[in-house]
Amino acid sequence: MLLELARSRKILFFGGKGGVGKTTVSSATAFARANEGGRVLLVSTDPAHNLGHLFDREIGAKPVRIMPGLDALELDPDDTVETHMKEVSGALYQLMPVHLHKEIDKHIDLSRNAPGMQEAAILERMAEVIEQGLEEYDLIVFDTAPSGHTARLMALPEMMSAWTEGLIKRREKADRFAEFVRDLGRDSSMEDKTIGSADNEEQEKESQIRRILLRRRHKFTHLRDRLADEDMTSFVIVLAAERLPVLETIELSEQLIQAGVHLGCLVVNKRAPEDGGEFLRERHGLEEKHLQTLSDALPRIPRQDLYLLVQDIVGLEAVESLSGLL
Ligand SMILES: Nc1ncnc2c1ncn2[C@@H]1O[C@H](COP(=O)(O)OP(=O)(O)OP(=O)(O)O)[C@@H](O)[C@H]1O
Ligand SMILES: [Mg+2]
Repeated sequence: MLLELARSRKILFFGGKGGVGKTTVSSATAFARANEGGRVLLVSTDPAHNLGHLFDREIGAKPVRIMPGLDALELDPDDTVETHMKEVSGALYQLMPVHLHKEIDKHIDLSRNAPGMQEAAILERMAEVIEQGLEEYDLIVFDTAPSGHTARLMALPEMMSAWTEGLIKRREKADRFAEFVRDLGRDSSMEDKTIGSADNEEQEKESQIRRILLRRRHKFTHLRDRLADEDMTSFVIVLAAERLPVLETIELSEQLIQAGVHLGCLVVNKRAPEDGGEFLRERHGLEEKHLQTLSDALPRIPRQDLYLLVQDIVGLEAVESLSGLL
């Protein structure tokens, strides 16, 4: 099921609660697709450097080759925020008069740690990774940070583009006002060449600002379109067959629907085997009960179960053997 999704989509997101197996399952899916000849980029948006731990090697902001057909990268939130901040302050410097630049620096320093900043920055990098990645790869797999966060991330392009939209509108109003004031103050004797060239310079600056804002807006709306295109993008929720995870999955699925994102598969990981003795059989039965709640709530979403394995999943070989179970 998961593999079919990986074959039919170009972008897959894996989300879910902490520790359920997002990194493991997303990596195994990426591996399986690469193993059958696809070119796959595996991307972690989690600050905790999950992929590096799983593959037991250093993975950074630039793609590294894991095996033929499979590259991986980790978006570093701090680096991403720094780059993002530089761009934002650059744009703001252009928007505001010079005597306010100190204010901008202060504002930027404060917003560096503001809630949502890391997500916004990661989102912008994600947009870039997707645009570049779609040219070079058949599939981009995102291993995301634990859930609530993820759904917010999916709703963020909308918010960000609304924000930029507001800024553009305010800018346009300010432009019209400035023009009005200029017109008021202008008498025929002032219409000489110097004023004209200052006006041109001003206009040039204005249109530069508008270009920056429009480019940013375009980036976010484009990302939004990509995420909402269900032929291109799908979301996979990984969960455990327990009461709370099931309820949270139902909640997350509602958030995804609201954000307009296609939910392609539910992966129930670490299932208790039925034939593992009395204790595990009982556990299996209880899991079935919880999973009934899940399929009652989300009857049309395909489900794939993966059993709890004896060994830890670390290293390429372990990922390969799990990928064989997909
Ligand atoms: N089917 C499985 N059988 C046995 N162990 C598993 C299975 N799936 C995952 N694990 C183990 O569970 C642990 C957590 O898995 P993983 O790191 O993939 O979860 P995660 O959802 O990415 O966690 P986090 O939210 O912290 O990023 C790991 O030690 C992994 O080896
Ligand atoms: Mg992880």
